[in-house]
Amino acid sequence: MFVCICFAVSEARLAEVIDGGARTEEEVGDACAAGTGCGSCLDRICDRLRAADPLHGLELREPAA
Ligand code: FES
Repeated sequence: MFVCICFAVSEARLAEVIDGGARTEEEVGDACAAGTGCGSCLDRICDRLRAADPLHGLELREPAA
């Protein structure tokens, strides 16, 4: 099954990329092009990234002094 139709990136290929260390949409795009076309797969890519890193997509801030 494809995660990214534009670039024919499969679930397995995305898992390889994330297992290889990709932690952002940009890193996934650099590794396999997924998400760099129409963008309709970005929610699914983010779901997979969040599974690997629960903090994915959260903006972390320093506590106020
Ligand atoms: S489906 Fe992934 S960029 Fe279009």
